[in-house]
Amino acid sequence: MSLVVFPFKGEDPETVLHNVRIAASHRRVSRVLTVGAERDETFRALGSEGPSLRRETGTPLDVILQERIGRKRPGKGDAMNTALRWFLAETDLQRIHFYDADMLSFTADWITHAEESADLGFPVVRHYFPRATTDAMITFLIARTGFALLWPKSELPWIEQPLGGELLLTRPVAERLVAEERVQAQSDWGIDTVYTFTTVRYGFATYETYRREGKLHKLYGKLADLRTMLVECFAAIQELAENHLEPSPPAGPVQMIPGGIVHRVEPHLQVPLQIIEKVGFDFEGTLALLLDGWNPRLEPLVEWFPPAIRDGLLENRSRPCFNFMGEREWAQAYRVLLDRFQPGDRDWEEILFKLWTARVLNYTVSVALRGYGYARQYRHNTIVRYLQEAAGAGPATDRISDEL
Ligand code: LAC
Repeated sequence: MSLVVFPFKGEDPETVLHNVRIAASHRRVSRVLTVGAERDETFRALGSEGPSLRRETGTPLDVILQERIGRKRPGKGDAMNTALRWFLAETDLQRIHFYDADMLSFTADWITHAEESADLGFPVVRHYFPRATTDAMITFLIARTGFALLWPKSELPWIEQPLGGELLLTRPVAERLVAEERVQAQSDWGIDTVYTFTTVRYGFATYETYRREGKLHKLYGKLADLRTMLVECFAAIQELAENHLEPSPPAGPVQMIPGGIVHRVEPHLQVPLQIIEKVGFDFEGTLALLLDGWNPRLEPLVEWFPPAIRDGLLENRSRPCFNFMGEREWAQAYRVLLDRFQPGDRDWEEILFKLWTARVLNYTVSVALRGYGYARQYRHNTIVRYLQEAAGAGPATDRISDEL
C-alpha cells in the first residue's frame, strides 16, 4: 500500500480537494498527505474536509505544514523533504507518490500507472508527458544540458523529465534521500534536480511512464515568471559539479532490477493537438527583458564569455538581439557559468537570465517554429551532440549545427 503526497502553496482549494479525493479513493492508497507552505485558505479547507473524506473513502488525510529543513530559500524542497521524513516516521508503507496539487488533469490512472510500473521492480517511477514546443526550457537548457555536459556517460541526460514533480519512490529510495545531507539542504526549486541526480547516482533503476494527456496547469506568461526556478536549478547543478560527484553508484548494493536494467522509458506515442498547437510564452513581453536590467556592474562579467557571446549580449543594451545564441554558444556559455556564476549575486543572476532568454528566443524562431515533431527531434539530437562532445567523441564544432 502507498502514501500519496501533494505539496501545495497558494493553490485553488477546489482543485486540490478534487485531487486529494481521487487519491484517497484509490485502492492502492492507504494514506494521503498534503504539505502546505503556509496556513492559507487551502490548508484550512483540507483540514475541515478530512473527517468526511475518511468516512467516504476509509483513507485518512493528514494536513501538515512544511518544516524548515534546508539551507537554501524555503520552498518546494522543504515540502518534499518534509513529506519523505513523515513517510518514514509515521508509516510503514512501501511506496510514496508525489503529484503537483494544481494539476487539472489528475486521474486515478496516474496512480495506477505508477503502481503497475513499480510492480515490475523499479524503485523509482517518473511520469513524463508531452510539453508544448516552447515549454520546458529549464528542463532542456539547464537540467538536461548540464547532465549531458557534466555526466555524459551516465543515465542522467537520458531522463525525459528530470524536473518532473510526478513520481513514485520506494522506501529504500526515500531512506537514501533523507540520509543524504545535500538533498536535505536543497529546500528550493533545485530539489527535483538533486532527487534525480541522487537516485541515478545510487543506481536506483528508473521507469518513465508516458502520460499522453499531459499536465494541464497554469502556463507562464513572460519568461521572467521562471527566473527564480532558472537560477535555483542552475545553482543546484553547479553545486553538484563543484563537488565532482560521479553519478556512478558508490560501493554498496545497487538497486537495479533483475536483468540489469537501469532505465526504461515508455514510447512517446500520441500527442494531443492541444499541446502540439500551444504557444508557450509571451514573445513580445520577453524581448523587452533582454533590454531591461542593464547596469555598469554587468559589463565586467560579460568579459568572461567568448567574444561572439560577449558582443551579442552587449548589443542588447540598445536593441533586442538573440541570433548569436545558438546551440554551440549555449554550451560554451554554460561552461563559463559553471566556473564563474555566483548564486545569490544579482548581477550574475541577471547574466544567466539574459543568456538563457536569448537562447530560448533563438530556439523559438529557428527550431520551434518548424513544428512540434521537428522541435522534439532537435532537442533530443542536441542532448546527444552535447553528451558525445563531452564524452570525448571528437570535435563537436563540426557536428553541432542547427541541422538535424
Ligand atoms: C521546465 C519548466 C518550465 O520544465 O516547467 O523547464
